[in-house]
Formats: sequence, C-alpha cells, structure tokens
Amino acid sequence: MVAGLDQYGVFGNPIGHSKSPLIHRLFAEQTGQTMSYEALLAPLDGFADFARDFFARGGRGANVTVPFKEQAFALVNQLSERAERAGAVNTLCRHADGKLLGDNTDGVGLVRDLTVNAGWSLADQRILLLGAGGAVRGVLQPLLAHKPRELVIANRTLSKAETLAQHFADLGPVLASEFAWLQQPFDLIINGTSASLAGELPPLPAAVIKPGHTRCYDMMYSAEPTAFNRWASDLGAAACMDGLGMLVEQAAEAFLLWRGVRPDSAPVLAELRAQLA
Ligand code: ATR
Repeated sequence: MVAGLDQYGVFGNPIGHSKSPLIHRLFAEQTGQTMSYEALLAPLDGFADFARDFFARGGRGANVTVPFKEQAFALVNQLSERAERAGAVNTLCRHADGKLLGDNTDGVGLVRDLTVNAGWSLADQRILLLGAGGAVRGVLQPLLAHKPRELVIANRTLSKAETLAQHFADLGPVLASEFAWLQQPFDLIINGTSASLAGELPPLPAAVIKPGHTRCYDMMYSAEPTAFNRWASDLGAAACMDGLGMLVEQAAEAFLLWRGVRPDSAPVLAELRAQLA
C-alpha cells in the first residue's frame, strides 16, 4: 500500500495480467483523483481474511475477479440490487462506518458498451444470450431492465439455462433453449460462454444470423477477432464487437461508485485497444 493515498485494488488469483490497475490509473489521471490501485493476489484458500485485512488496514474499495466473485458476495454487509440478482460481487466499497457494500458493475458495463459506445438499442429487440455461467448471470438484470422483446438463454447444459430463466422470469420475457432448437434470426447475439477462451464455438445453427441485420457481441476480447465473432462475420452479421469495452465500462462504474466522478471511458478504451494490437 502507498502511504497517504486512498487505497484501492483488484483481488484475483491469478492476477498478473489484470488490466484493472492500468485502467484505474488512467481514470485517476484524467479526473485528477489522488488514489492508489494495485493488483492483489488473494490466496485461493483464504479470500475472506485477505479482503478483511485489506479493509482493516484502510482500503477504500476493491474490484473482485476470478475466482472470488461469489465469495465476495458472501462477505459483504450490504448488497446492491444488481449484485443480489447476479449472485456475485465484482466491486467492494467501504463506507465511513466500516460497513462493506457489494456491487456488481459487469452487467451495467456491458449495457453501456452496447448502448452508449456502439449505439445499439436493446428495447424491443430479440436478444440471444449464449451460456449460463457466472458471466451470463451477472448481466441478466441490466439487460432485462432495457426491455427487450424477448431474451433467450441458450446453453450446452439446458438445465442451467432453465434455472437462470426461472430466476429472472419476474424481470421480463426470458426463455431457455438448447442451441439446436434455435431456427429463427435474432437482432442481437451476445456470447457469454467461455468457449472463445479455448478457441471453440458454441454449436449454433446459422439461422440465428440474419445477414446485414444481426449484431453480435463477444464478452471475451483478444487482439484478433474471437472465434465467435469470426463465425458471425463470415455469416454476414451487420456488426461484431468484443468485450474490451465492457471491461473498461465496468471499471468506470466502479470508479464512479468509489469517487463520485464518472471518467471518460473512450480514451482509456482506445489506449487499451492500442496496447492489445
Ligand atoms: P463464467 O464465469 O465465465 O461464466 P462458467 O460459470 O464456468 O464461467 O460458465 C462457462 C459457460 O460457458 C457455461 O455456460 C458453459 O456451458 P455448460 O454450462 O454447458 O458447461 C459454456 N461453455 C464453455 N465451453 C463451451 C463450449 N465449448 N461450447 C459451448 N458452451 C461452452
């Protein structure tokens, strides 16, 4: 920790390649905030003690990444509604009274990237969401808040998609599906599976893409287009985006929560994109 500065950090394991310290340093410079932000390797078998110790020593806030988001959910004194729905916490904030608030900014980060950065509307759209793990659960509430006409969750293991659809059914028209059942085009397809990590593709029928119309978003990012975005683009998707903007926007939401200032994400996203190349 750096003496005299407000302390922030990101807890993860592994954490070496995290882009969060760079993003928050750029946000702090841009907004004139005096703070420190470090990547912190939390032990796999002692996350709660590690996090408590960070805040006991004066830490003001932290991001939480793989594999600790569910443990952070269990740690806090108070949850935002979106974190409660997500079942996971990616942002911790210590109040003046010492209480820990848990928030989840992943979904709102995705929605800002889709609507503000890309200018895509979600209202009244037919949206297909691929996957039913933590990444998808984390974004469902903010997506449904934008009133899509229909949101279909498709997953390799159907039962997981069904469980999620039931859990969010009170928030909007959300359905579960197998990949093979999908025979109609969607307006927007969001890949929230981890398949791209292994260079793999969810086994989607080509009929989900209407050439020149369907827009695609992969929550993963890489220097080269992801396997999913290459597949969509080859089928004539109108536009394809990766998840680098979501990463920057979820960080901007956390920064806003901690510092009360919304940074301009555009130059930070441009800098990260340049570094990826
Ligand atoms: P995360 O926290 O990133 O969401 P996760 O909870 O392990 O990680 O979920 C991974 C998701 O990617 C799951 O929906 C998984 O499908 P299953 O529920 O059937 O396991 C999906 N997934 C991973 N590899 C995939 C592949 N090659 N094809 C299709 N789906 C895949």
